[in-house]
Amino acid sequence: MSLFKVVKVKDVRKETDDTVSVAFDVDKNEFRYQSGQYITIQKEIDGEDIRRSYSLCSAPFENDFRIAVKKIEQGKMSTLLHHNINVGDELNIMLPAGNFTISDFSRKHIGFAAGSGITPLLSMIKSTLKEGGSFVLFYGNRTESSTIFKKEIDELLVKYPNQFNVTYIYSRENMANEIQKGRIDNKKVNELIKQDLEILKADGFYLCGPENMINAVKDTLYYLGVPKEKVHFELFTTPVQTAENKSKVVSDFKGTSQLTVIMDGEEFEFELAYDGDFILDASIDHGADAPFSCKGAVCCTCKAKVLEGKAVMEMNYSLSDEEVAQGYILTCQSHPASDKLVVDYDVT
Ligand code: FES
Repeated sequence: MSLFKVVKVKDVRKETDDTVSVAFDVDKNEFRYQSGQYITIQKEIDGEDIRRSYSLCSAPFENDFRIAVKKIEQGKMSTLLHHNINVGDELNIMLPAGNFTISDFSRKHIGFAAGSGITPLLSMIKSTLKEGGSFVLFYGNRTESSTIFKKEIDELLVKYPNQFNVTYIYSRENMANEIQKGRIDNKKVNELIKQDLEILKADGFYLCGPENMINAVKDTLYYLGVPKEKVHFELFTTPVQTAENKSKVVSDFKGTSQLTVIMDGEEFEFELAYDGDFILDASIDHGADAPFSCKGAVCCTCKAKVLEGKAVMEMNYSLSDEEVAQGYILTCQSHPASDKLVVDYDVT
């Protein structure tokens, strides 16, 4: 069974100078999703299997299935989606996935976004407002004209004046209000929250953007006493894989594991050394059509469950502590840590 479905492009719309949104013609029942989830697009470009994940900016109740794509210099998929895609073209996409979701839209939620990090939050905001909940958004950009979905957000402000509030923060606009100048860093988050301490009582905090923004917001919220389980985040860039941000791989196992990988009900058996390839790469080399996208611990597409034995991850930016405790791993980051290891891609 292929991981990818072939779908047609329904609409391509320029959102800002460096962002387009692309809508697909999909069967709504097959492509069910929750606000905050993403899809992975696959295309062979110059003989290379390129996969990229993009969050959905549409909301499930809308008659639209749309992603936003920011232009990345030299980015093969973003270049394709910006310049070489037309209505009616076919693309391979995976069904929506991801854990960055809201469990109860009828409550009060807070969002911090920078740049294209607004994409999943826009979907969450629309669902929250529709369900009667409230949303306070802090949204950082360079300039007003580079602010993705500004028009749509401003329309929501008019439509839901009692449920929705947004503070735009610009690093390169000359704003009269000091609080709107600069970047979303620790100091700015402190200032924003001090303006309205009720924010700290919200039911959920949703952060999406580059790593430094997420760390600044997370650290400040924790410092101000917000419980960790209320803070949810999604990185929008793949962190650089350095010795510092690799978590210490804690394992006494220094041997070769007998690995069984289960994919689409089929079993693939092979040996893998503790210091060899990652489980994902080894699984693909041995014939499993294992799913992946970022290969950088961010997107969660390569998630699988350890049914027997032990594996250790070098980095993890997407699985929750609870999922890790349940035995889930990011196979793009995992090595075997026991003589026998059984990893199942079908249990997700
Ligand atoms: S492929 Fe993205 S987390 Fe593994």
